[in-house]
Amino acid sequence: MLVSFEHVSLRYPCGRTVLDDINLALMPGLFYFLTGASGAGKSSLLRLIYQMEKPSAGRVTLFDRDTAQLYRHEYPALRRRLGIVFQDFRLVPHLSALENAALPLRLAGAERLDVEQHVKELLQWVGLGDRLHALPSELSGGEQQRVSIARAIVNKPRLLLADEPTGNVDDESAQKLMHLFLELNKMGTTVIFATHQKDLVRRYAKPILRLRGGRLITAREEAA
Ligand SMILES: Nc1ncnc2c1ncn2[C@@H]1O[C@H](COP(=O)(O)OP(=O)(O)O)[C@@H](O)[C@H]1O
Ligand SMILES: [Mg+2]
Repeated sequence: MLVSFEHVSLRYPCGRTVLDDINLALMPGLFYFLTGASGAGKSSLLRLIYQMEKPSAGRVTLFDRDTAQLYRHEYPALRRRLGIVFQDFRLVPHLSALENAALPLRLAGAERLDVEQHVKELLQWVGLGDRLHALPSELSGGEQQRVSIARAIVNKPRLLLADEPTGNVDDESAQKLMHLFLELNKMGTTVIFATHQKDLVRRYAKPILRLRGGRLITAREEAA
């Protein structure tokens, strides 16, 4: 099991319960959609997996480890097995597209020259081969999103968490990005793709995790 939630709830300090008794078990190698209206808790659920948030109740298991038992010094190694595309990109403003995408490798200790070719190829793959030296402020929203996607996958993560990665691009670019994620998945990366875009979810026959009212609802409840 790659990720499992057992009776997981998340309550923010303001007292608001955002996730309520969530149970799930994600298998390695699959592509999952995580859907639900804006405010349904998609980003919160991804933050629980990425260890940016602790559950108020229940157990989150990641790579067969109970995350409540993790020591702080184990986080970096754990996060190297995860890739995350944040909804708001979170690029470093004074670094170029190339340097931003290379950051996880550099933080893991790789030398600049060793990683440069690999990162260039990755940026070409996401269609940014001619924007390598641009700063985030010189890139459009869609281009910044693609830099953040390159950064998320540069480490070849086992699990990729993508938070509305097609939220800032037109329909055609969204389709192209979707194909990148599907290709990555074919190469073995498990993907959790959060989106509120129903048309996107309908177009691909992939398992769906659907949030509503803080609960994960099943296909049967959906039909009812
Ligand atoms: N840090 C926080 N503190 C308090 N409430 C939050 C926080 N982050 C998100 N929320 C609230 O939790 C709910 C779910 O948010 P979020 O997980 O961002 O949903 P989604 O990604 O599905 O749009 C929203 O009502 C949001 O306002
Ligand atoms: Mg969100």
